[in-house]
Amino acid sequence: MKRPRNIDNFFDFSKGKIMVNLTNRCNLKCLMCLAAEEEHTFTLSREKALEIAAFAIENRFPRFEISGGESLMLDYTTELIEELAGKTEHIQIITNGVFLTNNTINALKDIPGLHVVVSIHGVGTTHDNIVGKSGSFEKADKAVRQMADLNMRFSINSVIQKKNYRQVYKIYDYFSDLPYNGHSLTPVEPWFDNLLIPHEDTDWVLNQLGKIERSSKAKKKNLVCRTESFSKYHGCTFADKEKERERLFLHPGFLCSVPRHLIVINNNGDVFPCYHHKWKDYKVNLNLDKGRSIEDIVYSDNYKNMIMSATGLFGCLGCNTYCYTWDKDFDRKINNPDPIDKTITEFVEYSKREVNSLCVSMLPGYEVLRRGVEKAFGAQIFIWGAGKGGIRTFDLLAAIGKSVFGFIDSNENVWGDRLRDVPVLSPAVLNEYKEKGIPLFVVIGSVHSEEIASTLKERGFRESIDYCTNPLI
Ligand SMILES: C[S@@+](CC[C@H](N)C(=O)[O-])C[C@H]1O[C@@H](n2cnc3c(N)ncnc32)[C@H](O)[C@@H]1O
Ligand code: SF4
Ligand code: SF4
Repeated sequence: MKRPRNIDNFFDFSKGKIMVNLTNRCNLKCLMCLAAEEEHTFTLSREKALEIAAFAIENRFPRFEISGGESLMLDYTTELIEELAGKTEHIQIITNGVFLTNNTINALKDIPGLHVVVSIHGVGTTHDNIVGKSGSFEKADKAVRQMADLNMRFSINSVIQKKNYRQVYKIYDYFSDLPYNGHSLTPVEPWFDNLLIPHEDTDWVLNQLGKIERSSKAKKKNLVCRTESFSKYHGCTFADKEKERERLFLHPGFLCSVPRHLIVINNNGDVFPCYHHKWKDYKVNLNLDKGRSIEDIVYSDNYKNMIMSATGLFGCLGCNTYCYTWDKDFDRKINNPDPIDKTITEFVEYSKREVNSLCVSMLPGYEVLRRGVEKAFGAQIFIWGAGKGGIRTFDLLAAIGKSVFGFIDSNENVWGDRLRDVPVLSPAVLNEYKEKGIPLFVVIGSVHSEEIASTLKERGFRESIDYCTNPLI
């Protein structure tokens, strides 16, 4: 395979995974699933799927994950898995379990490295009501027990949401004697507001999770459920908009390792470097349509440039998800965020060669500003400083997608002026906002940052919660 120059150091697929949604068709219609909302019109051809498998093997991806839609509806899925067998370390399929019939289980039972994840969201009718079809629980339950008897590697994934959170202990307990590889109690991703767990039950749920954790520890079960996942990663799982701001997690959007380790083929054949950033906005054709191979797309300059601009200056604002904690670099960066870490050093080295050194000198300060301003989540942003520093701050914030409500300045001669088409106001506006209970966040964009910071502190503003300083002034 002929790869363009410089690519070898850029991607590190030996740490990565390919995740393929073979189809968006599904036999079920789960309440919380986006795929259930889509028109069921896309299925990757058998040839394309096998081409992706060959690409994965050639590029030594250690993980290959098959999802959908419901991939076991297709007639080539077991063939695809057999093709990967012995050539890819971990093969994972995520399924609703309805098509895990005796025949399918027999075809899969001896595949080395295979891990079958079955999604079961409740016991009996609770599950059936969530997935919209009676009898589904019985089939999935039978399949996991059969896999247990055959010593296969399998896990259970239960998405915890409004319709089943009261059963969370029961869901864990029902399967807890099975020799599963893991049981994930996944906090629902908040696509649909009516499925969020009521905020007033937050503590109750966290208590239940604590009880489950203690029980699973005693039974030596691998429970993929940490109370901290519920409270930190998915602030939005509990319908509490106020708390969202506090819970927002620091994340490695800047210089994120994921796009250089992961390839996602989504529900309509688009190839993406992760599934949270808005890659569509780059208007690059990433679709595996007729004649276009995965290799063509991934090793194109467009794809590399898209990743560079998302994870470099003015790019991806990051995600606060645990979906990528299999990526050790991502995990380390979200759990121990430090802008001057190894990945940055690597990036700086890379940028020196490939980009221009002017940008490189700004990187650490830029990262500090960006992380600082994330705390403004949901609040109106003001810049204190209506001079050059303020305007520079305005432009930097605009470049990372943050809108500014106005400038604040102590110099009364500029009150009422407009800069970058927003008003310049007196510091009195801070008190007005506080009195009205409107959340606001101040970014100090001035060389007099220390004086301004002490004025803000006197007015009860807390550093890095209510204000931050642009270090690039
Ligand atoms: C989209 S499904 C595709 C595979 C298969 N049809 C299944 O249900 O396992 C992949 C996983 O995403 C989970 N899922 C769907 N909607 C979700 C949501 N809103 N939040 C978190 N997980 C979700 C499903 O339960 C399933 O475990
Ligand atoms: S079975 Fe899977 S793909 Fe189908 S609707 Fe449910 S979560 Fe979505
Ligand atoms: S959305 Fe998340 S995984 Fe994707 S590039 Fe941004 S931080 Fe990384």
